[in-house]
Amino acid sequence: MKYNFNYYNPTKIYFGEGSISNLEVELKNYGSNILLAFGGGSIKRIGLYDKVIDILQKAGKKVVLFGGIMPNPTYNKLLEGVRLVNENKIDLILAVGGGSVIDLAKGVSASAYTTNAWEKYWIEGKPVDSQVVPVASILTMVGTGSEMNGGSVITNEEAKLKKGHVFEAKVYPKFSILDPTYTYSVPQYQMLSGIFDIMSHLMEQYFSGTDENVSDYLIEGLLKSVISSTKKAIINPQDYEARSNLMWASTLALNTLVGMSKTQDWEVHSIEHQLGAYTDCAHGMGLAAISIPYYKHIYRYGLAKFARFAREVWYIDETNKTEEELALAGIEALSNFIKDSHMVTRLRDLGATKEMLPLIANSCDIETSGYKILTKEEILSILEECY
Ligand code: NZQ
Ligand code: ZN
Repeated sequence: MKYNFNYYNPTKIYFGEGSISNLEVELKNYGSNILLAFGGGSIKRIGLYDKVIDILQKAGKKVVLFGGIMPNPTYNKLLEGVRLVNENKIDLILAVGGGSVIDLAKGVSASAYTTNAWEKYWIEGKPVDSQVVPVASILTMVGTGSEMNGGSVITNEEAKLKKGHVFEAKVYPKFSILDPTYTYSVPQYQMLSGIFDIMSHLMEQYFSGTDENVSDYLIEGLLKSVISSTKKAIINPQDYEARSNLMWASTLALNTLVGMSKTQDWEVHSIEHQLGAYTDCAHGMGLAAISIPYYKHIYRYGLAKFARFAREVWYIDETNKTEEELALAGIEALSNFIKDSHMVTRLRDLGATKEMLPLIANSCDIETSGYKILTKEEILSILEECY
């Protein structure tokens, strides 16, 4: 480790089955007007909506409903939330759902008392200089880490741009309730999408830099835990131990802890975000499809790290293998994991058309801290390879 850092994470976590019992006490810290943010209805189907409404009413809160938040949430939906905050003098935004709901809640929080938020945050990356509305979350789907970070990924449909912004600590959730049993009902396709999202967050922090770094050891441990729990959760979606390991690994993967003192890549995410802007696909499935051709394209520039990935994460025997053969065996093991878990490997299965590929390649950001800085032509050829 060689880079200095300051570490602070303000989100309080309540973890485990029944941890919603802490909501009542937490609510005492906030005023009476609550914006209840949620998605397309899954929280009603699992009975969580009724439970939360009951707790809010018993606590004497006035509840303003903000439902219908879509996967890959849009800037127009964010503006709807801003209007509700202003009209109702909201004291707390309670986001109940997956990453999309929590991301949008953070976006509304930072945009409520400022103008032209899209340009300010998602295009120019400026800090928040206005009042924010506190956010809290109850997580129902794992993958993004949004429950304990400042990330907010928003799609501007008119501009055909999906962009992430990382807000400062005052926009992080004040508290997040993580009950693994809420994730039992997540459809397998979404569960696997979330799982690959966790893995990609870990790998995109891992595949950068050549220094000896404690963070890389943490990442290897988390990846091994995710691989092991995935196999169990596929066989039995109600395996509490597997679902709780996946939930906490997901939070740890992107609550900034494992990224301390590390350069990081994020090119797979940059490409996926524009794939999402054009196709509205499930985020983690887009990452799964892009990752293998991307890693095959760049591994030679970070050979030692890819060989270490094979050895430490996939337990591949290095006897009689060159470093390059070992590195390739690690990528092959990742590819087999993706296929065996029935994750998506082709962009055409995510709604992409051939005509979209140059538009995606030309509009995504080029990252500069991975093992190789790509050109737009290289990105296009990676997209064509997984089309
Ligand atoms: O809308 P509902 O009905 O709730 O259904 C959702 C949605 O259709 C469903 N779901 C969630 N919990 C469920 C459930 N279905 C049954 N039972 C449950 N308990 O799952 C679907 C997907 O939900 P969504 O929130 O969209 O998924 P995810 O958590 O993967 O979030 C994806 C968004 O987060 C962004 C992505 O780009 C994407 O926009 N990201 C946010 C990051 C961050 N904040 O740091 C980082 C990530 O890299 C990512 O970019
Ligand atoms: Zn992600």
